[in-house]
Amino acid sequence: MRKFNNILVTGGAGFIGSNFIRYVFEKTDFKGRIINMDSLTYAGNPASLEDVAARYTERYVFEHADIRDKEAVERIFDEYDIDSVCHLAAESHVDRSIVSPDDFIQTNIVGTFNLLQAAKERDDRITLFHHVSTDEVYGSLGDTGFFTETTPYMPHSPYSASKASSDHLVRAYHDTYGLPITISNCSNNYGPYQFPEKLIPLIILNALEGKPLPVYGEGINVRDWLYVEDHCSAIWTVMKEAKASETYVVGGRCELRNIDVVKRIAALVDEFAGPLPSGAPRESLITFVKDRPGHDHRYAIDCTRLENDFSWTQTETAESGFAKTVKWYLDNNEWVKSVRTGEYRQWIEKNYEKR
Ligand code: NAD
Ligand code: DAU
Repeated sequence: MRKFNNILVTGGAGFIGSNFIRYVFEKTDFKGRIINMDSLTYAGNPASLEDVAARYTERYVFEHADIRDKEAVERIFDEYDIDSVCHLAAESHVDRSIVSPDDFIQTNIVGTFNLLQAAKERDDRITLFHHVSTDEVYGSLGDTGFFTETTPYMPHSPYSASKASSDHLVRAYHDTYGLPITISNCSNNYGPYQFPEKLIPLIILNALEGKPLPVYGEGINVRDWLYVEDHCSAIWTVMKEAKASETYVVGGRCELRNIDVVKRIAALVDEFAGPLPSGAPRESLITFVKDRPGHDHRYAIDCTRLENDFSWTQTETAESGFAKTVKWYLDNNEWVKSVRTGEYRQWIEKNYEKR
């Protein structure tokens, strides 16, 4: 079992990062400090960690800084005596990568390189560099089969190509310089604090507001859904227990067609918020729209290795996890409203100076 004192978490103000930091403080025996380095792009929101910042004043530090900035990266490694890294910072939305790939290349590839280089130059004190990656690096499956740790890379979008590139860099720093690394490649996450550009929160909020529920193409693409806290427990397990250089795929054993996800979410919003003023079910808001270019048909993960090596299991099913998530968005109106209206950006500009 590895021990960590000062963990650098990059991208900790994002969806998975904020859930991961909360998970480590509240659900593990970690006694050290977490330094959250985040540049607060549109996807970063310190309000997602307000409770953590208030509760762990001695053990939680926020650094408003950019992984593309080499000097900032080096300063943070030295100032906080970083001994381990959990790297999540990335541009994460496939559709944005199709329209505007530049930031994906700079953050996901060059930013990862900056972090690796800083870790390598301080390798006498680095216990682990963990890279949080995606199943999208493996490309697309047909109607059968699963991604495993040995599936060849075949990314299709600028996003997945940039993540594949960063995975290769991370492995190269192990194979060439002996940096202790691990990688996890996970399927689609959902849960609290997810930015409402991704399918599930977008559908929840549009359904609530009586807006169209956009489904790409015919809605027959398949994703493998995992509740975010279950992803966090997998990341922590790999960080603590996996041998250096190892990769684990992480998934929910929960394959669903997009159209079925949207129908289930719409039905849950009806159940918890009541029907539309017209009395129609929210499913009636489904609108089929132009398909995503190069849309991967199906992702599905065989996570037997993670389950067998560490007895990792997930706690939520789609039934329980979807219901929890819809309730969360209904109960957290302040967070939702500030993200939906863009107010959170003004609040960040007022309160967070970049270093
Ligand atoms: P997100 O978009 O919600 O959050 C990304 C965070 O990174 C934001 O807080 C943002 O401000 C920060 N960031 C972006 N560029 C930065 C930069 N240059 N410097 C510092 N911080 C920067 O993303 P997410 O969904 O939480 O994903 C986190 C990681 O997990 C990503 O690496 C993603 O590829 C990976 N992943 C996501 C999923 C998923 O379903 N969301 C699944 C598997 C893997
Ligand atoms: O598989 C892991 C990946 O999952 C992560 O690496 C990415 O960071 C994360 O964004 C996610 O990628 P997807 O492209 O699968 O997620 P998204 O929520 O954008 O879309 C899920 C599916 O729903 C996909 O097949 C496209 C479709 N979709 C999406 C949106 C936003 C729609 O039909 N309508 C929509 O409006």
